[in-house]
Amino acid sequence: MANPSVTTRIVLASRPSGKPITANFRLEQETLRDLVEGEILLQILYLSLDPYMRGRMDDAKSYAAPVAIGGVMEGGTVARVVSSRNPAFKPGDIVLSHSGWQSHTISDGNGLRKLDPDAAPISTALGILGMPGFTAYAGLRNIGRPKAGETLVVAAASGAVGSAVGQIGKIFGARAVGIAGGPDKCRYLYEELGFDAAIDHRASDFQTQLASACPNGIDVYFENVGGHVWNAVFPLLNDFARIPICGLIAHYNDDAGASRDPDQLPAVMRTILRKSLTLRGFIQREFADQRPDFYREAEQWIAEGRLRYKEDIVDGIENAPEAFIGLLEGRNFGKLVVRIAP
Ligand SMILES: NC(=O)c1ccc[n+]([C@@H]2O[C@H](COP(=O)([O-])OP(=O)(O)OC[C@H]3O[C@@H](n4cnc5c(N)ncnc54)[C@H](OP(=O)(O)O)[C@@H]3O)[C@@H](O)[C@H]2O)c1
Repeated sequence: MANPSVTTRIVLASRPSGKPITANFRLEQETLRDLVEGEILLQILYLSLDPYMRGRMDDAKSYAAPVAIGGVMEGGTVARVVSSRNPAFKPGDIVLSHSGWQSHTISDGNGLRKLDPDAAPISTALGILGMPGFTAYAGLRNIGRPKAGETLVVAAASGAVGSAVGQIGKIFGARAVGIAGGPDKCRYLYEELGFDAAIDHRASDFQTQLASACPNGIDVYFENVGGHVWNAVFPLLNDFARIPICGLIAHYNDDAGASRDPDQLPAVMRTILRKSLTLRGFIQREFADQRPDFYREAEQWIAEGRLRYKEDIVDGIENAPEAFIGLLEGRNFGKLVVRIAP
């Protein structure tokens, strides 16, 4: 067994310019000090890899502070309590924590949520029953608000957020059209998740296929991507369409100073006005008070087989940088999680 007083961790070695490369990360080991009263030692079992981490690598103004050079990469984790000097936790407890890209850490117990391993596989607390699943739920319930018979379109549809958006949209009564990269992901959406149609955004006739899949236009577009997907969706939006702006992953590797085409803005604004569109950005935690509703409803939907999920599990913390780089290029298939310990 690994020496629990040593943590193996991945720190930010340098800030990327454009796409991250493995040299932007560094694997290190650090000896942990002894616990003081009130503290617990955590062994990280699963680390969530999420697109927002790309933003934390830049030293730019955002809704959250950047990771410092030499700092441990940030991230949601599921961990086991190894030893405890805190009466609220005992060895063997499984908790949801935000411990970052490392194998062990010391916590004072604040912000931890105990998980019941008998209720659901513990890795789902990072995916379908965690932040990405809740993002789908909150964005639809508060902004997208699909009604029965409406057409809902979502991109990055086989991923952690998108796969839940399409399925929850169907539970709300909408027709769900998913956009994903490649035939395997599209087949999965249509055949296994019950999407009404799935379109490959890499196909040469992507825009034509999307228009055919949405003969009555688009009432809700759950934006995860931006870029060429947005350009294809935009002309198909119906009057009074709702567009939760959840993520823009196609632009996360753009240079901050890169020039934009300013000429598109007036046309976009004109259409927003003419079609009475509602575009509303959000960060899931603004709806945190709805989390109990989400856990109750999502657990029920999973039990009924109406909400399914797929995990893409990578073994070993040393493989986290490469896996994260792949996430930004669509190499993951499902919720990307690193298994750090059994
Ligand atoms: N607002 C919030 O609170 C919040 C919370 C969580 C996530 N998000 C956002 O939600 C989005 C999805 O996150 P996720 O965790 O569910 O990730 P994910 O879908 O599991 O993985 C990312 C996927 O994005 C797609 N992609 C990457 N580059 C693309 C490009 N240039 N054009 C089109 N598609 C591209 C790829 O799928 P394909 O192979 O299908 O292209 C890739 O697999 C991200 O934008 C993320 O930042 C926002």
